[in-house]
Amino acid sequence: MLTVSSYRDCRDAYRHRDLRQALYDEGAALMGDVIVNLHGEAHRDRRRLENRLFRRDVFMYWEREVIPEVVERVLAPAVEAGTGDLVALARRAMLTLAVRIAGVDLQDGSDSEFDDLFEIMSRLSRASTVAHATGSKAAIIETGLRALDEFDERFLQPSIRRRMSIIESGSEQTPADVLSTLLENRDALDLPPEVLRREVAYFPWVGSHSTSNALAHAMDRIFDWLVKRPAERNLLGGDPELTQRFVHESLRLHPPSPVALRRAVVDVRLASGVHVPAGETVVIDVSAANRDPDVFGPAASEFDPHRDLPEGVPLWGLSFGTGFHSCLGQELAGGVAPDGGNHKSPLYGAIAVVARELLRHGATPDPDNPPSLDAESTRPHFGRYPIRLG
Ligand code: HEM
Repeated sequence: MLTVSSYRDCRDAYRHRDLRQALYDEGAALMGDVIVNLHGEAHRDRRRLENRLFRRDVFMYWEREVIPEVVERVLAPAVEAGTGDLVALARRAMLTLAVRIAGVDLQDGSDSEFDDLFEIMSRLSRASTVAHATGSKAAIIETGLRALDEFDERFLQPSIRRRMSIIESGSEQTPADVLSTLLENRDALDLPPEVLRREVAYFPWVGSHSTSNALAHAMDRIFDWLVKRPAERNLLGGDPELTQRFVHESLRLHPPSPVALRRAVVDVRLASGVHVPAGETVVIDVSAANRDPDVFGPAASEFDPHRDLPEGVPLWGLSFGTGFHSCLGQELAGGVAPDGGNHKSPLYGAIAVVARELLRHGATPDPDNPPSLDAESTRPHFGRYPIRLG
């Protein structure tokens, strides 16, 4: 294996057409033919199709109409109780959004249904990225396959039946989601049922896990910032562009996927001269690239949402990837880069919208109950984060 860790090498590796996805090789039973694992023309065609749902005007609608309503509903019990768990709230809000994008219907939307679905998605996520797992890989994949069966039976099949009846009767507009898009184009796509279920199952976990971890880290950074500058709380809660900058800076320092993996299809040479022989696996060290002092300055490892950036470098660094596999949900989760209020139709992103709502409700860490990291994850994500509201 060869590791690249400078910002430029990582960016070039992400964008190189002869470096193909390798993160899911060991989890192929769960990720075979899923968009993020396709290469070349097959990837281009799938992306072109699904991209229709990931347009800026669609996200604009989500940000103005859907997200505020979801956030209000999710936060209401915690606001009333004056206390809650940031991680649980983030997971609930982000999974609600991600299942809607995927086209996965919930039966009653109860707490227990959500907990079950989140648990299924955690098993799928762990099994798909088994390359990073510790412990028995065979057992993790087996658990993932059972989770996929459970997802199929309990959530996917009813969602397919509902959409097929809408498509066949033509009685109403089909929902704008990934499942409907794939079903409407089923003749041209010729997707076997097992690929359809893997593709649709991918969206809820990729959409909710990374986003909820990012929100918990962003709030932690914001709380820490406000301890030293309490007078800025109202400023931050009242200025969505500022909140968004805090979220982007936190995403840079805490990329939900700290490494990406690629394999060279042929001999590859990156612009810096790094040579990758055909067949070699490349580790793209996103965490290191996002702290590259040549790009982010000598204080690259410090949290500074007001930092100056070189032309063309986003504040979130490479946290959303770049190139042909770059994140489809980026604008939904992170919005578009702020431009000093000149943008006619700003998009702040779901993480910043939820962060602002939490600040508006007076969220602070619970001083009697400190947060702790998720013991089940090999990555440094919060497992629980008690907060007070009001
Ligand atoms: C903070 C939130 C998120 C982060 C940091 C993130 C990060 C990433 C990264 C790094 C990749 C590239 C993977 C690679 O090149 O190997 C990616 C791909 C992808 N993301 Fe996200 N993601 C986030 C949220 C979302 C959301 C909300 C959705 C949709 C509901 C989503 C859907 C996708 C899809 C479909 C791909 C694969 C695109 C392709 O292969 O063409 N992501 N994401």
